[in-house]
Amino acid sequence: MASPLLLVPSDPLAPRVPDEHFMREADAARQAGMKVAVVDHDALLGGDVRAAVRRIPASDGEQAACYRGWMMPFAAYSLLDAGLGTRGVRLLTDSAAYRSAHELPGWYNTFADLTPASVWSPWEAGRMPAIADVGALTRTLGGGPGVVKDYVKSRKYEWHEACFVPDLADVTAATRVIGRMVELQGDDLAGGIVVRAFEQFTQDGDGRSLEARIWWVAGSAVLITPHPDAPAGTTVDVPTAVCDAVGASVRTLGAPFVTTDLALRSDGVWRVIEVGDGQVSDLPAAEDPGRLMRALAAGC
Ligand SMILES: Nc1ncnc2c1ncn2[C@@H]1O[C@H](COP(=O)(O)OP(=O)(O)O)[C@@H](O)[C@H]1O
Ligand SMILES: [Mg+2]
Repeated sequence: MASPLLLVPSDPLAPRVPDEHFMREADAARQAGMKVAVVDHDALLGGDVRAAVRRIPASDGEQAACYRGWMMPFAAYSLLDAGLGTRGVRLLTDSAAYRSAHELPGWYNTFADLTPASVWSPWEAGRMPAIADVGALTRTLGGGPGVVKDYVKSRKYEWHEACFVPDLADVTAATRVIGRMVELQGDDLAGGIVVRAFEQFTQDGDGRSLEARIWWVAGSAVLITPHPDAPAGTTVDVPTAVCDAVGASVRTLGAPFVTTDLALRSDGVWRVIEVGDGQVSDLPAAEDPGRLMRALAAGC
């Protein structure tokens, strides 16, 4: 099978060339034998899909593609998928698969034994939750500390204000934190509200949990990197048995290109903090993109 086409966002100031952030990956993809084309991310988010895909070479319908770029909402990905179709290009990750890996409700059940207990509810951007809404949402989690986010992202840098709830039984306090998360996400609130039971993870000297990101292509682990937020020089190691257990869930999920972020709980158990679509997961700057691109070239 011919290698898929790699799509990357274009540089907003030089629309024919890849955005600087993805330039190294584009170069590595070419070295791995892939062709590279650019997508106009801003046009896509603005809803102008024709403009977004106009630099993609048209094909006879047999051209498979994968994407490496900025995160985008499910609706924008669906639009991209449809727009590429008009040029005879087919994303190997269809929009249903993108959603299943990108949004917590899509992957949670498949990873339920490996990840903190979670509840969620669709939610409209900008609408403030009432105490009764939050009480109904969090009831099954009971009391104890919790973490809130939307279907995709948290406000982890506003931890006490908009991410961490000291005791979910205090519904008034939980409503305040969730309300602040909704407010700060603004129009970017993805899908709805997620509340997760807090688990204690081992931490580095700065109080950060150390996360390992496993990159899965066609159900196989092809790369393990530190989380991109980890300080430069961080190394990570995940036991093979843990990788095997996570891999079984990745293969059940079925999306072709997935990342899983893992952290070591303080009782020594590895846990999945979040799952992502590999197309929009950031690769640490210090990482050589060659290995990942060769895996994608071989077929995602
Ligand atoms: N259930 C949890 N228990 C403890 N810490 C958590 C939990 N969920 C998330 N965290 C912490 O919050 C951070 C952000 O959560 P995450 O789900 O990865 O959101 P984001 O998509 O914003 O990275 C994680 O890196 C981890 O340190
Ligand atoms: Mg994360």
